[in-house]
Amino acid sequence: MDRQLAIEGGAPAVTAPIDDRWEAVTERERTLVNDALDAGSAVYDEIEKFEAEFREFVGTRFALAVCNGTATLHSAMFAAGASLGREVIVPSVTWHASISPALHCGASPVFADADPETFCIDPADVRGKLTDRTCAIVATHVYGNPADMDALLDIVDGTDITLIEDASHAHGATWRGRQVGSVGHIGCFSMQASKPISGVEAGVATTNDPNLYDRMAALGHYGRVNQLLQTDALRELGRIGLGVKYRANPLGIALARAGLERLPNLNERRARWFARLDALLDDVPGVYPQRPYAQAERGGYLLYTARIDPDEIGAPIRAILDALAAEGVGIHPDQPSALYGAMHLQPLFGDFPFEGLGGPWGDLPADVRPSFGLGSLPVSERLNETCVWLPTPVDPSDAWVEQVAAAFEKVASQGDRIGQLADGDVDVDG
Ligand SMILES: Cc1ncc(COP(=O)(O)O)c(C=O)c1O
Repeated sequence: MDRQLAIEGGAPAVTAPIDDRWEAVTERERTLVNDALDAGSAVYDEIEKFEAEFREFVGTRFALAVCNGTATLHSAMFAAGASLGREVIVPSVTWHASISPALHCGASPVFADADPETFCIDPADVRGKLTDRTCAIVATHVYGNPADMDALLDIVDGTDITLIEDASHAHGATWRGRQVGSVGHIGCFSMQASKPISGVEAGVATTNDPNLYDRMAALGHYGRVNQLLQTDALRELGRIGLGVKYRANPLGIALARAGLERLPNLNERRARWFARLDALLDDVPGVYPQRPYAQAERGGYLLYTARIDPDEIGAPIRAILDALAAEGVGIHPDQPSALYGAMHLQPLFGDFPFEGLGGPWGDLPADVRPSFGLGSLPVSERLNETCVWLPTPVDPSDAWVEQVAAAFEKVASQGDRIGQLADGDVDVDG
């Protein structure tokens, strides 16, 4: 390999193409969608078939298909009793949908910091944020890496706090051998196009608890409510339920059924190269791939990510990313941040004025959005500033994986030089 940095005209370390796609549509997808289209009004049967298959897969009593992952989280927080005066403890390293439904319920999101190795919510910080107003905790299995469910279950044990797993990235991941989505009280899965099971736009919520299930069903499934309800608590609402429509599109669900069949194979293939790259990066100073807890098996594998330590490498993060990009590592120009980063710093969760808006927004008291300013969640902020993520194919060639590792090694071992180039302080002889 050419040791000269590509930003200085050296040959890039990564030349192997990435020639496969996670979101492939196979004959199986086409068959299931065509069958659904041919079924006439029985097209809706897709939803029940998928729910039965997903229940079986996750191992919960109930699975409720909905129109997207955001709707699963709204349904889950609503079911948990999120409302004015109550609090939902949420991670900051996640997508906004793990948080914003709390505001739609009139409740206050309370941010907890992240664990620096796994990037998932830090149970110790969660414990410190508990109050008698806490009604739910949301734990995102970030990029398919399960959060510390033992510690979180311990926190909610003996309380009436609902533990919601945002498993939107983590289809097929396990905790102590149990599928995520069955470990907490409610599991929420996005099945949007980038996810390992996709309905292009769809979602599914799982639970073992008939009361939580009934509230989710009543919120968003008018027309189906009568047949879904397990208890009589909400039956008087009749077929309208609570009147919101979160029903899934059955054609998307037909696609998702094929995705569920293919999931074990997709996960196996991504697991293989994640493990290989983890091992290759083990000895590279200043590069720390996201780690799973010992009790966890990753699944879904949304993105391969690593935390960079710019101080250890000896160059600013921007210069390191530019050097990696020049080496052919597919670094998106918005990196770091701007993806799943410091959500607590977003205007929606800060001081954006809601006055004049409808629903609960117009008159949410200021303390419903307690402020979490810069410096309030140091680990999440640091991850937001220093994480890289890679293009994450299904089964890239060994050459690509090895070349990516070589690019990290080449850049990390020449931090001083990269720092000098960034400062414009370059010795012409190299
Ligand atoms: C962690 C997380 N939760 C929830 C969602 C929302 O899912 P959807 O886009 O299907 O509404 C996403 C979407 O990417 C996500 O990444």
